[in-house]
Amino acid sequence: MADDWLAWFPELAPAIREVVLTPEQIQGRIAELGVAITRDYQHRNPIFIGVLKGVLFFMADLLRQVPLLLEVDFLAVSNYSSESRNQGLVRLVKDLDIPLTGRHVVFVEDVIDTGLTLNYLLKILRSQQPASMEVCVLFNKAHHRLIEIPIKYKGFDLPDKFVVGYGLDHREKFRNLPFVGLLKPDAILNGSEDGNP
Ligand code: IMP
Ligand code: MG
Repeated sequence: MADDWLAWFPELAPAIREVVLTPEQIQGRIAELGVAITRDYQHRNPIFIGVLKGVLFFMADLLRQVPLLLEVDFLAVSNYSSESRNQGLVRLVKDLDIPLTGRHVVFVEDVIDTGLTLNYLLKILRSQQPASMEVCVLFNKAHHRLIEIPIKYKGFDLPDKFVVGYGLDHREKFRNLPFVGLLKPDAILNGSEDGNP
């Protein structure tokens, strides 16, 4: 089955060493998360916040499993430098359009690694005094966690390996794979500024 998905992406398949999560596994888990969120947020008009671009695929699939009156908004950030990135400092390059004051906020993330970026963003959003704020993350990589962040809704625990697909990129590519996969070592080109391959 996993091979069928690789065959569907002939330009990308040669770089993939192994499929870690199939599209069926991902979609099945997202449906379960949708059930839990729908149960918890009835009649609360929640607002879902995501950080571009990695969360695009997860947000789109998740919200179609949450049949509630809801809103969605996005932030975009850029890291100042590799040094400030290590402290979780980021610059907002797109702010939210919708005010969060008094709102029930679900912060949706594709992956949490160190937790620094998310911790910083949650602090910024909390200053708007939402009525509540919970975190929903699809892929949890606990190995490098530097800051403990309570995660209310979690998709999968991933091993300490660099993965691509379903929104996760290597140098902006591979986001459109419907599965999550490991790259072959020779596809991880020259390393990069931020410590990730
Ligand atoms: P952190 O939690 O502050 O370390 O930031 C997590 C960010 O690192 C994510 O938003 C991704 O952009 C990136 N990241 C972490 N692990 C991976 C991975 O396995 N593949 C692709 N990107 C990753
Ligand atoms: Mg991200």
